[in-house]
Amino acid sequence: MASDLNEQFQYNLMLAKALVQLMPATDRQHIRIWFDVLAELDQTQQEMAIRNEYIWFILLMLQNNRIEEYFKELPPRKILPLRDVLEQKIIDDVLIASDNNMSWLDTVSDEEKEKNLEKKKVAPENFLNSQPLPKEGVICYFGAFSDQSPSNFFQGTQNNTLLEDDLISNASKHSDFCIDKSHCVPFVQCPAHVRIETKKMCKTAVGSDGVCCFTGQNHTTPEDRHPRGRQHLVRMNPQTINLIARHSQDKINEYKVKETVLLADGHLLFPGSPSYDHFRNFKLLTKTDLSEVLDLASRAMEIALATRDFKNRQGLTNQQIELGMLQQDLSATPLGIACAAKPHCPLYPVKYRRIDGACNNAANPAWGSGMTPYARLLPPSYEDGIWLPRVSEHEGQALASPRLISSTIISDGSAVNHEHTLMVMQFGQFLSHDITQSIEFSFANGSAISCCSDDGRAKLHHEERHYACMAIDIPHKDPFYNQFNQKCMNFVRSVLAPRQDCTLGYAQQMNKITHFIDGSAIYGSTPEQTGRLRSFEKGLLRVFNDFGRHMLPLSPEPDECLNRKQNLACYMSGDSRTNQMISLVTLHTIFLREHNRLANELSKLNSHWTDEEVFLEARQIVVAELQVITYKEFLPIVIGNAAMEQFDLSLSSGTEYSHDYDESIEPSATNEFAAAAFRFGHSTVDGLLKIYGKKRMDEMIFIPETMFQPSRMRKFFFMDELLSTLTTEPIQQVDHNLDEALTRYMFRAGNPFGIDLASLNIQRGRDHGLRPYNDYRELVGLPRLKHFEELSPELSEKLRKVYASVNDIDLWVGGLLEEKAPGSIVGYTFRDIIADQFYRLKKGDKYFFENSPRINPGSFAPEQLLELRKASMSRLICDNSDGTLLGRQAPSAFKKPGVEG
Ligand code: HEM
Repeated sequence: MASDLNEQFQYNLMLAKALVQLMPATDRQHIRIWFDVLAELDQTQQEMAIRNEYIWFILLMLQNNRIEEYFKELPPRKILPLRDVLEQKIIDDVLIASDNNMSWLDTVSDEEKEKNLEKKKVAPENFLNSQPLPKEGVICYFGAFSDQSPSNFFQGTQNNTLLEDDLISNASKHSDFCIDKSHCVPFVQCPAHVRIETKKMCKTAVGSDGVCCFTGQNHTTPEDRHPRGRQHLVRMNPQTINLIARHSQDKINEYKVKETVLLADGHLLFPGSPSYDHFRNFKLLTKTDLSEVLDLASRAMEIALATRDFKNRQGLTNQQIELGMLQQDLSATPLGIACAAKPHCPLYPVKYRRIDGACNNAANPAWGSGMTPYARLLPPSYEDGIWLPRVSEHEGQALASPRLISSTIISDGSAVNHEHTLMVMQFGQFLSHDITQSIEFSFANGSAISCCSDDGRAKLHHEERHYACMAIDIPHKDPFYNQFNQKCMNFVRSVLAPRQDCTLGYAQQMNKITHFIDGSAIYGSTPEQTGRLRSFEKGLLRVFNDFGRHMLPLSPEPDECLNRKQNLACYMSGDSRTNQMISLVTLHTIFLREHNRLANELSKLNSHWTDEEVFLEARQIVVAELQVITYKEFLPIVIGNAAMEQFDLSLSSGTEYSHDYDESIEPSATNEFAAAAFRFGHSTVDGLLKIYGKKRMDEMIFIPETMFQPSRMRKFFFMDELLSTLTTEPIQQVDHNLDEALTRYMFRAGNPFGIDLASLNIQRGRDHGLRPYNDYRELVGLPRLKHFEELSPELSEKLRKVYASVNDIDLWVGGLLEEKAPGSIVGYTFRDIIADQFYRLKKGDKYFFENSPRINPGSFAPEQLLELRKASMSRLICDNSDGTLLGRQAPSAFKKPGVEG
């Protein structure tokens, strides 16, 4: 009986959801919430009978296109029998009005209609009595909701011979409700590789297209990787494990010997070249960092090599590796020493988040901590399934050189975004440095690897090349580099991190810093780094007192910056990329000062507090402010309000706590976010900083002149002038235009040419095994491209020249060219990858500032939340600028003066 009731309900729900599609979009939302609430009523027979009555009634209302007032409101907490809440007359009206309106359902034969004619004037006692039995309607319904979702993505991984049963079960997937505790989530949050067999289209709570997903967000957790279609897990016997362990160890030793030779032969970069400046971005801040990162990288490499060996021996396919079919735990085998160590966490949660990000999640204490792998939305695409960069889908030929793609597709044109200020760009970069940092391989002593000849005219010969080299070919007729006879751009691959699940598998790149939004760019990601930045007095961070102005402390490293002569400043913060851009230094300075401002206030109010207490409290507030600015001001501009709503990203209001934390959500940065989507920001950069004094423009700075040379910061008025520029000058549109400051002159360090960031982005995507753009389109629910024209009619010819197939387009390139999602500054694909990331960072972070005391051991009081939610970038600027120029500040530092919001 219960299963009958359930079946009837699900059936009617399915129809009702189909009919909702015909309503105006604005009216759908409440009804859909009714659906969700009714679907939950499944505990007792009585509940099920009530909900059946409701769904039947809703179905009739929808069919009559007349929704009663009661259903235009949100459902009450307790759902009472329909007759207790609606007048009988209303019920009767709906029933009678539904007389002849069911033609599309092809419900009841004419004969039956005749028989029932009499009954129709009277409301049946039990609504279920006259259930229509849709016939063609079902087909119509399936057609409307046929699965365009990424579930087809990995069809090739399933057995090729589908049995009849399979076909039937596949068809039944195409319905519009999620059952068995699965949830309707945006596409991007339910990658196809997780549970191929359960993929079904549905509507999310806010009415956008989604997919039923068992995992919701935690799809990257190891335990969620079963089942994978009809693939079988591959097992290894102990002898094989011993053998591959020995071989991979031998190979690593071979690599180390070669490294020593390369180092001795001088195949390294030296300060003064653009490539060395690029390397400065990855330079590790301390010796401990260097040895720890390289040790982890070598262990991860050992696993990757063992996987390759095993794959070749067993004749495994790439897909078996991509889908993680090698799930045997290696801990107790000789390969176990290569696995990641688990952080030691105290029994009881501590009040403040740890500097290294560990122990945030009790069940998975390494989640979100520094030096761990990026998560992935989709499995990687490597030529060998493990680490070799992907090739074209067209006959497996090599993909075109990233520089050819860059010089063909990426232009230096300028399309100004008249609504948003350069602060969007600058805060975006600052924020990205709080969330992700990949590190390039280097020699054991920290020296930079060179992959090109010293004069850049050729790639180094195979024997002279480091195994992590992936130099970029510069084509012969390059419109810019040709004049300098440059044929090779240095590129070194990112270090790997040991797999968290201690299994064989594909290579995973390391995020050096903590993944959380936790101020790691300000405070560092290791206790050692934080120690270097603290004064250990009154909770303050160290400063460089520059004639009364508190600046970031000067870096003790001799070659942290370019031309470090006497009096030329080069700064130190929690992030090694600080000096990359002078405007980035400015933001670091603002946050440093904010910390110290708060520490001073807290010390005044709590004179009994120790240095440690003041430091931790001030840090907690700064992190909260950073989170508020991110979610309240920055993110709505980047992804738009619709995505904020769809991904439920808005902050709670007033004194409210949030109860959103979900311990099954992995907070880690995804590889797709770090290596492509969030690099949208590169297109927003303006190569010229216009610096205005009190009355006129003082200077125009070409940004390469300030890269790793931030000495202008020492000029008395400069910081305020730059802040004024950042909050009034516009960003560039996100499109295929990148300023030549980034594509020709980046890090030129006094040389006539620099390196090309667009080429680096494309090559980094390939280095990190990102799948082609089309796969991510599908992941976010867009149709796959069949022709280049569909992406960009103007650029289609050029795209055809550099890509053999539409399925080859790199994610970063495709994402930039995509039409903007409404209200967003990026297209749907980037939008959803970014939204998913910030969803993880909010809902997967126990210490997120607005979490309730039940979740967050260091929760704020309700009144504190009220104040914290007022934080804004403008407020920070007002409180921490030099006060030499800025007298006023627009309410939003991200919007051009005069723009609403
Ligand atoms: C003048 C401004 C900027 C410069 C010079 C710059 C430069 C760079 C460089 C050299 C890299 C490393 C490239 C590689 O080898 O893979 C990088 C990575 C990145 N950039 Fe930018 N960038 C700028 C602005 C931005 C902005 C505005 C954003 C975002 C809004 C952004 C987001 C990122 C991200 C997410 C990465 C990857 C970080 C990682 O995981 O390692 N950048 N950028």
